[in-house]
Amino acid sequence: MTTTSSGRLAGKTVIVTGAASGIGAAFARRFVEEGAACVLADVQEDLGRALAESLGEAATFVYVDVTNEEQVAGAIDSACERFGALDAMVNNAGLLGALGPIASTSTAEWDRTVAVMLTGVFFGTKHAARVMIPQRSGAILNVASTAGVQGGLGPHAYTAAKHGVVGLTKSVATELRYVGVRANCLAPGAVASPLTALAVIGNSAAVDEVAADMARRSPSGRTPLPDDLAGAATYLISDEAWYVNGSVLVVDGANEVLQSRAHRQYHES
Ligand SMILES: NC(=O)c1ccc[n+]([C@@H]2O[C@H](COP(=O)([O-])OP(=O)(O)OC[C@H]3O[C@@H](n4cnc5c(N)ncnc54)[C@H](O)[C@@H]3O)[C@@H](O)[C@H]2O)c1
Repeated sequence: MTTTSSGRLAGKTVIVTGAASGIGAAFARRFVEEGAACVLADVQEDLGRALAESLGEAATFVYVDVTNEEQVAGAIDSACERFGALDAMVNNAGLLGALGPIASTSTAEWDRTVAVMLTGVFFGTKHAARVMIPQRSGAILNVASTAGVQGGLGPHAYTAAKHGVVGLTKSVATELRYVGVRANCLAPGAVASPLTALAVIGNSAAVDEVAADMARRSPSGRTPLPDDLAGAATYLISDEAWYVNGSVLVVDGANEVLQSRAHRQYHES
């Protein structure tokens, strides 16, 4: 797919967590294309560093485990020192997490899932707010999921954490609206990435295989890719979206709508 850069993030500094792979990597690439300086934060050091180097001087990699508050706060402070401000914080890092029926879900895996996917977003939101409030500007974008707005689209812990991300974002938006800081969620449906390959095929390296499978099942025959979410993310952190606050933008090709019982009952004979 070809995209034309509009330069709508020119002069902005953006941090993306989970930027070494999948959706976060696609966002980092697009944000740099759109003129931003981008800090790629992840625990996958080799992949993240290689991607940042391929993007040139506008991109830097920083090792951040989003479950470690000091590391999250430190990355935000370094970005501010280096670039003078933090314009957007994209809390995207995630994992598939605890699997299985509720009666046998491991408590340790539950805790780990919530730590990465909800507490990690809390740390990113908290420390972004700490620097954005005195700036009186900034955009926080939390990557939720369609599993964050509907049940049955993901494992229990994943679904609970993503619903928490949606709730946290809406709550924070009501506080920060008074100081010119926005907080929104992007709720993607399935796209071909290592996480989806792990969920569907049981192997995070089988991205081509899961992409082919998704294309076979897609009404258009086209596989949704991480890059297909990057325009929506760019919009939500850009100044164009100044009036969009506390929102959840679902980008899923209408799958959530199609899976709802309410929709089905109108169409089944
Ligand atoms: N792939 C999908 O279909 C899909 C759909 C909806 C939402 N999402 C969400 O999008 C986000 C990105 O998913 P993806 O598909 O790109 O997955 P991915 O596995 O390709 O990328 C996730 C990234 O997060 C990083 N990460 C994991 N734990 C971390 C931690 N503790 N600290 C820092 N980084 C960490 C990983 O190293 C990896 O680079 C996740 O929050 C996921 O829940 C994905």
